[in-house]
Amino acid sequence: MWAKIIFVSIFGISQVLGAYVFPKDFIFGAATASFQIEGAWNESGKSESCWDHIAHYTNEIDDHSNGDVACDSYHKLDEDIKVLKELGVDSYRFSISWPRILPEGFSNKVNPDGIRYYNELIDKLLANDITPLVTIYHWDHPQSLQLLGGWTNPRMVEYFADYARVAFEHFGDRVKQWATFNEPQQFCREKIWGEAPSLGSVALDAVAPYLCAHTLIRAHAKAYHIYKNEFANQKGKLGIVLNLPWTEPLTNTTKDIVATNRDLEFQFGIYAHPIFTKDGDFPKLVKERVANLSKLQSFKKSRLPEFTEEDVKEIRGTADFLGINHYSTSLTSDASDEIDLFTPSINNDRAVKSTIDPSWPASEIFWLYDVPWGLYKALMYVKNYTNNHPVYITENGFCEEAIDDQGRVHYYQGYLQSLSDAISDGANIVAYYAWSLLDNFEWHRGYTKRFGLYHVNFTDPSRPRTARSSAKWLKNFIHDVKSNNL
Ligand code: NOJ
Repeated sequence: MWAKIIFVSIFGISQVLGAYVFPKDFIFGAATASFQIEGAWNESGKSESCWDHIAHYTNEIDDHSNGDVACDSYHKLDEDIKVLKELGVDSYRFSISWPRILPEGFSNKVNPDGIRYYNELIDKLLANDITPLVTIYHWDHPQSLQLLGGWTNPRMVEYFADYARVAFEHFGDRVKQWATFNEPQQFCREKIWGEAPSLGSVALDAVAPYLCAHTLIRAHAKAYHIYKNEFANQKGKLGIVLNLPWTEPLTNTTKDIVATNRDLEFQFGIYAHPIFTKDGDFPKLVKERVANLSKLQSFKKSRLPEFTEEDVKEIRGTADFLGINHYSTSLTSDASDEIDLFTPSINNDRAVKSTIDPSWPASEIFWLYDVPWGLYKALMYVKNYTNNHPVYITENGFCEEAIDDQGRVHYYQGYLQSLSDAISDGANIVAYYAWSLLDNFEWHRGYTKRFGLYHVNFTDPSRPRTARSSAKWLKNFIHDVKSNNL
């Protein structure tokens, strides 16, 4: 195990707590997202979001549920604050619902009740010494904008920037930590959410993911400049949240090692490279591969749009911090020989297969395993990739239903140890947010999969929250860290 106390003086600014090391002002928090918890889907001026639309009109949700009520956090913010307080967290990461504050999608019409709700939430958090970290976009854009093409529409750059400005104007006097986007990989890559299942369409599988990436990176950069230029007096920090599952080569063959690196560049680099490296552009590997394959497939130009020189200047360096959502680890192998390179799709561009080690403890959702060293490796990779830019772990958590959730306790124990090891090895980690404060609407999985530190009874109209064993464990952990007991 990592040598415990010996290095105290090296970490002059750190508290050294037994086997755990955390900087003195390290932030512990819990996270949620608007669509997953708020409910009140059509109340007080809110319009339909793309996710309301998916849930109401498609067959894509496992239990055919929706976000109409969810945890009812729109009416129960006092209860949410009560459990945050009970946990003893320093910070709460939540997101703003775009259609709740701009029901038509555009900034010409601001919904006063939406503003009131978030004002109340922010004020009550601060009154309880809990600082907000606000995600501006966690997947629920207005359905009206989806009808205009969603994230494939380049005009979304302006619409998003206008929306972000409204958020800064109304909440920025009290919110000092902002994240523009949550996990663009998810909503750009899988398919453009809000669309019908792709059914092998080239437009959705091979073109849209790149249009989306190109649009939203520019949207992020624009919001950053608005914040820094128009709201400099607010003196807050703004970043973006990327998803970084860890992956190791399945074998030590060159093919698998190359494939693993390619996978990371396609999943993480495509967003991180433009913003966090001096290039200000998509990774070279991704640009070349998509251009070559596009040519092979008889496209007139690369399916990956190019940034102009202006774009590059505007994008480079536009984040005060990098938010990392990390959950699990996989093993990657090369799939180049198995795919038809003439069939265009982002998955064929990546050309990898992934699997897991069957000895890893499984959660109750198919993609999530308890592999704590994966977090350590991911953080060291980020340290290197971004030249040790400040990192917030904006999500980390486990899927388990039992109230006595020993699997989740085990997961948090291991992952917090790995986090501490990464910090002691020089990773610049500022904050850690557990996902999630509450059980909530888990997107395509509806309410069938639970991530909450607090259990929510979705069949009871009052949606009672009950602490799981993991909530008690994390509360003690945070308390011990703060009071130097570990
Ligand atoms: C990441 C997403 O940001 C969040 O919304 C989701 O619930 C968790 N992963 C768990 O799948």
